Amino acid sequence: MRLNITLLPGDGIGPEVIEQAVRVIEAVAEIGGHDFSFRKHLIGGVAINETGTPLPRTTLDAALASDAVLLGAVGSPEFDSLAPNMRPEAGLLSIRQALGGYANLRPVKCYEPIANCSPLRAEIIAGTDVLFVRELLGGIYFGEPRGRSNEGDSPSAYNTMRYSVAEIERVARIAFDEALKRRRKVTSVDKANVLETSQLWRETVTRVALDYPTVTLEHLYVDACAMHLITNPLRFDVVLTENLFGDILSDEAAVIAGSLGMLASASIGGAVDLYEPVHGSAPDIAGRGLANPLGAISSAAMLLRHTAKLEQEADDIEEAISAVLYAGHRTQDLKDEATSHSSSTSGMGALVVESLTEIADRRHSYHAV
Ligand code: IPM
Ligand code: MG
Repeated sequence: MRLNITLLPGDGIGPEVIEQAVRVIEAVAEIGGHDFSFRKHLIGGVAINETGTPLPRTTLDAALASDAVLLGAVGSPEFDSLAPNMRPEAGLLSIRQALGGYANLRPVKCYEPIANCSPLRAEIIAGTDVLFVRELLGGIYFGEPRGRSNEGDSPSAYNTMRYSVAEIERVARIAFDEALKRRRKVTSVDKANVLETSQLWRETVTRVALDYPTVTLEHLYVDACAMHLITNPLRFDVVLTENLFGDILSDEAAVIAGSLGMLASASIGGAVDLYEPVHGSAPDIAGRGLANPLGAISSAAMLLRHTAKLEQEADDIEEAISAVLYAGHRTQDLKDEATSHSSSTSGMGALVVESLTEIADRRHSYHAV
């Protein structure tokens, strides 16, 4: 199969982790005889420094013309004092909008061998497997009007949280469709005791649920959800929520996975799917080979599963990650008392490729018998 992938390594640790994800995709191509091509483009702080804008036209055109986009991270402290629309993050929000993926899937799994890397007790988190479906293109991130005002006694600032029925409905359908492939439960998260947008959210999700009689729907306020997530994560299957709540809850849930560096995401439903690890640019460790590439590698697995429909290959990558962790390899973010040595970013990438090759070989020889 042929696939044309746009790479947007971005800032901080983005380039290092994307390099490892590409290695893994290339290994899949070699094993299966696929023709995957990659083109790199600028986004974020590096794009501001080189072109004056966080999302250059050439990047956007290339992304729109490709089959999938794999992005590293954006953000750099050197731009911290700039207005939101001038910052590296504006490039990320614009490309999300332009590609149109309104459903952001963020799976959170507790890999057994690293359950002890979480500050939460292993018996609480062992076996956790939650899929966040975060609405990505609406709500307070994009609502108008927004801005600052000097009217009145004291300067003020304002943002608008706005949702239409259509926006809620389309992302809810994705959540229910995903639940059908899993344990058939959707927890819809809102703040319907305070916000009108949440009341509309709840009504709309309840109506969509009628089309999915085999899926159980529950509603939870976001504050309660935040608590249940770390006290009883096993109660969750699919968590459906709006943009800002999803941003916050998915970072919280990373604690269950042992490290934010483990988490992957896919933004689907638009013209071109966008894949990115959930972690940010981590400028404090950038360029030192310390970053955990497993979130980026898992994002590559999601790309193969959703865009390329290479389900087996995606499963193999996830199995390879698990095998590497079972064998005791850790990047520094996952180190515990039992780990004497931590692997570098590229060392971890090499281990996953090696394990992936073994897994594929094993299957081929099995089929050959
Ligand atoms: C995320 C990030 C982004 C977001 C930032 C970098 C704009 O935190 O993907 O979770 O808020 O969506
Ligand atoms: Mg976030």
